[in-house]
Amino acid sequence: MKTPKIPDNTPYSDTQRAWLGGFFAGMHSHMLQSAQVANDQKDGRIINILYGTQTGNAESVADDTAATARNHGLTPIVKSMDEIEIDQLAAMEYLLIITSTYGEGEMPDNAQLLWDQVSADSAPKMDSLRFSILALGDTSYDEYCKAGIDWDNRLVGLGAERIYDRMDCDVDFEDAAEKWITSVIPMMAEGATVAIESPSADKKDKAKFSRKNPYVSKLLVNRLLTAEHSTKETRHYEFCLADSGLSYEAGDALNIIPQNCPELVADIIKAINCTGDEDEPVNGELMSFTESLLSHYEIKLPSKELIQEIAQRSGDQTLNNLLEANDKAKLSDYLWGRDTLDLLLLFPEMEFSAAEFLALLKPLQHRAYSISSSGKAHPESVHLTVASVRYQSHEREHKGVCSTYIADLIDDQTDVKIFFSPNKSFRVPADDDLPIIMVGPGTGIAPFRAFLQEREFRKAKGKNWLLFGDRNEATDYIYRDEIEAMQQTGVLSRLDLAFSRDQQEKIYVQDRMRENAQEMFSWLELGGYFYVCGDANYMAKDVDKALHKIIETQGNKTADQAIEYVNHLKKEKRYVRDVY
Ligand SMILES: Cc1cc2nc3c(=O)[nH]c(=O)nc-3n(C[C@H](O)[C@H](O)[C@H](O)COP(=O)(O)OP(=O)(O)OC[C@H]3O[C@@H](n4cnc5c(N)ncnc54)[C@H](O)[C@@H]3O)c2cc1C
Ligand SMILES: NC(=O)c1ccc[n+]([C@@H]2O[C@H](COP(=O)([O-])OP(=O)(O)OC[C@H]3O[C@@H](n4cnc5c(N)ncnc54)[C@H](OP(=O)(O)O)[C@@H]3O)[C@@H](O)[C@H]2O)c1
Ligand SMILES: Cc1cc2nc3c(=O)[nH]c(=O)nc-3n(C[C@H](O)[C@H](O)[C@H](O)COP(=O)(O)O)c2cc1C
Repeated sequence: MKTPKIPDNTPYSDTQRAWLGGFFAGMHSHMLQSAQVANDQKDGRIINILYGTQTGNAESVADDTAATARNHGLTPIVKSMDEIEIDQLAAMEYLLIITSTYGEGEMPDNAQLLWDQVSADSAPKMDSLRFSILALGDTSYDEYCKAGIDWDNRLVGLGAERIYDRMDCDVDFEDAAEKWITSVIPMMAEGATVAIESPSADKKDKAKFSRKNPYVSKLLVNRLLTAEHSTKETRHYEFCLADSGLSYEAGDALNIIPQNCPELVADIIKAINCTGDEDEPVNGELMSFTESLLSHYEIKLPSKELIQEIAQRSGDQTLNNLLEANDKAKLSDYLWGRDTLDLLLLFPEMEFSAAEFLALLKPLQHRAYSISSSGKAHPESVHLTVASVRYQSHEREHKGVCSTYIADLIDDQTDVKIFFSPNKSFRVPADDDLPIIMVGPGTGIAPFRAFLQEREFRKAKGKNWLLFGDRNEATDYIYRDEIEAMQQTGVLSRLDLAFSRDQQEKIYVQDRMRENAQEMFSWLELGGYFYVCGDANYMAKDVDKALHKIIETQGNKTADQAIEYVNHLKKEKRYVRDVY
């Protein structure tokens, strides 16, 4: 690709010119277009906006930030963190980073490579960089907003100037993000030459429905996928989109805003010796305690504040020792399988007023689900594949809030609040001729059902390989008819199954990968894409290890060369994961 020359009459500084030069040289065509927009605008300080995201929130905030920057006459360049190299970062002058945190305090996948370079001892000084960070996270995790905090500290350590304090955002990030954007952008614009642009031309086309303004849908289908006598319960759902004007892409997630189980609400009210009729203000509206617990607060997983209060009021030695020792692992062992009601039942004498109790709870959050249909094949509905969380613990039946809300508590007449989360990185290849490998055990199959429908709809010629697994073939081979039909029609070119509990030794999808290492590597060499969906804690890590080993052995590479190969796949967005 030819490197475009930056005209001398543009207001870019030498460092910006140097960066743009290097930037142009190494980037893909869509990146070229956006930088050329910057060039065409002639004026306006360049503000680099980098996002680290797993499920799209940070990317959407980055787009909002760019829209505001344009309205201030600045020239924003929005990039995913895996689209730039460290020398490009070091050459920047104005930088905004928006990143989520994943795993247990880890970087999201698309931020990891750049972070590895930035956190290395060999990282260059960044004395001329002025920056600010917006960190997305969730206070229910121990390592709250750790990725954003790490970036913030490291950039300062490398000599960069923090021009506006980092903003850490909890799950309901929109207001805090807006505050950060409207504060930091004018600071970035201070003293700058601004573009002569009509602000209205830069207005962002906002999604019609969001977490704060969800679409109210109806359930069309609730079908048990696993057999009646399975050890699991996995269900197929379809929600209506007709007349909504909404559309989605294969790879996106659907969020559901659930309601709590009425029996659990009643049991909690009884346990703290309230009646449920107490009127309490919630978001400026007066409602009964019962109603507030049903619809507005997380009542299954106990908040840190509630645990602390229970420990303090009860004076319980075990709980207090655990909290004082600050040993997260031991506390987490103690809490495993214990929900809010279990904790309350430990101390039957303990009472709370409704107001006291509500003050100790977190807002009830939506749950995300990988969409299992293609929006092209099913424009009027959206499908999900959901494992119902049910388990026996501390002599009670426990139920996951959202998975059993949709399984048990709603019918075709219920208003169900939903909204989409686009995941632009998790997509079938734009080139229909390229092969794809999909690793999705358990509910991890969801987006791959969508991908197969999408490839079928597009009449894509590229080969499709699915690796699926679950506990037992007889009871847990979900979507078997559809899968076999797709094999018949040729849409599914290869299928490998791993049923873990059908024999003494566990067999997992990564075992099937290893057995087919040669073919798998040859698909990658043909430009193939490698997708993983499902459990993040064990499966995705083991699959990642197996992938590295396959590349090492089949590609005749050292371990370091295999890492490089995988990093290259990640950079090209040919190795992407939707793991949770
Ligand atoms: C991007 C994304 C995509 C997802 N896609 C899917 C999908 O396609 N399908 C799907 O089914 N899920 C998916 N999930 C998971 C989903 O969002 C919910 O986390 C899941 O349905 C559980 O929610 P819940 O409200 O039913 O349970 P919650 O009320 O949130 O309870 C879950 C909690 O219960 C406890 N728990 C669970 N099992 C046990 C046990 N056996 N013993 C003791 N304690 C236990 C744990 O503390 C666990 O965190 C996805 C998540 C993300 C982030
Ligand atoms: N991080 C999370 O909170 C998380 C992640 C995923 C799923 N879940 C929850 O778990 C429930 C069921 O989920 P699910 O249907 O997606 O999957 P699942 O039941 O957990 O597992 C599906 C298959 O993956 C196998 N498996 C277990 N460990 C593995 C490993 N290290 N590598 C490869 N495969 C492995 C399982 O085998 P065995 O069970 O026989 O070992 C099973 O055959 C749901 O409630 C879901 O929400 C939670
Ligand atoms: C599996 C998983 C792990 C997470 N781990 C953390 C964490 O360790 N710390 C934290 O603050 N937030 C954590 N989060 C919350 C995300 O950072 C938060 O939902 C964020 O808005 C996601 O933004 P994104 O869509 O841009 O990735 C986690 C979320 C999920 C689903």
